[in-house]
Amino acid sequence: MTAKIISGSQIREDILEDISQKVQEIQKAYGEIPGLVTILVGENPASQSYVSLKIKTANRLGFHEIQENQPDGIQEDELLALIEKYNNDEKIHGILVQLPLPKQINEANIINAIHPDKDVDGFHPVNAGRLLIGGTAVKFPPCTPAAIQEIIIRAGVEIEGAEVVVVGRSNIVGKPIANMLLQKGNGANATVTVIHTRTKNMERHCKRADILIVAAGVPNLVKPAWIKPGACVIDVGVNRVGEKISEKTGNKIAILKGDVDFEKAKEVAGAITPVPGGVGPMTIAMLMRNTLRSLQYKLGLME
Ligand code: GUN
Repeated sequence: MTAKIISGSQIREDILEDISQKVQEIQKAYGEIPGLVTILVGENPASQSYVSLKIKTANRLGFHEIQENQPDGIQEDELLALIEKYNNDEKIHGILVQLPLPKQINEANIINAIHPDKDVDGFHPVNAGRLLIGGTAVKFPPCTPAAIQEIIIRAGVEIEGAEVVVVGRSNIVGKPIANMLLQKGNGANATVTVIHTRTKNMERHCKRADILIVAAGVPNLVKPAWIKPGACVIDVGVNRVGEKISEKTGNKIAILKGDVDFEKAKEVAGAITPVPGGVGPMTIAMLMRNTLRSLQYKLGLME
């Protein structure tokens, strides 16, 4: 059996089209457009590449967009002042500080400083709490978990009653996706297990999964023998394992590998996301959706 390959890039296009439509409708009716500021500190190539994609997508959708590129040596109080400026900027509905940040800056202090109503990453403790409660309490589902949930739904895989195993317990992916899938409601109602570096016998847990979500940051961690035949496998790993010259542009680009041995896993799984082209492209669409939602909340268009 060869798995259905789930194209995140294709699903992203459908979602962006829908967002673009809504942006035009809101602009016509209310004279406002979603505003997003991206704050990038330093010159980490992966962060630069993620942020430039976010900016490109925001521009394409007709958002008001501001880029704040700051030097690696910026001090915490300067970054906090910048966030305060955008907390008070009426035209900005979403503030994104790209992580990781340099060592002199306490990441938690930065996340806590973003106004929860502009926290389109969904990382602020208020939004993490809302996610735990679930239902209409949720304002901004974090982008990568939201992308994973949307991909599973649109791939036509039943989540209700499914055995879901999440590999990895990060604040950005593992913990929130586990919470989202165990909530009551559509696209949820799953039985969820979270496994991690201290789990005894990871293979035993993975083999039970109808839906296996892998966000460990370890290339090829999940072996084909760990996958239940026919399972849906979502690979969230983005591991830079080398560089190559792009045939399209002639520039140096990163060679990316997921956390799952894709070539062999696709012979066992029922459906699987590739790396690149799976979860990654969808994550940016979810950020755009959250920025639009922020404006919709402000205008009283959302509960
Ligand atoms: N770094 C890696 N993933 C993310 C993300 O989803 N948001 C932000 N702000 N930084 C990240």
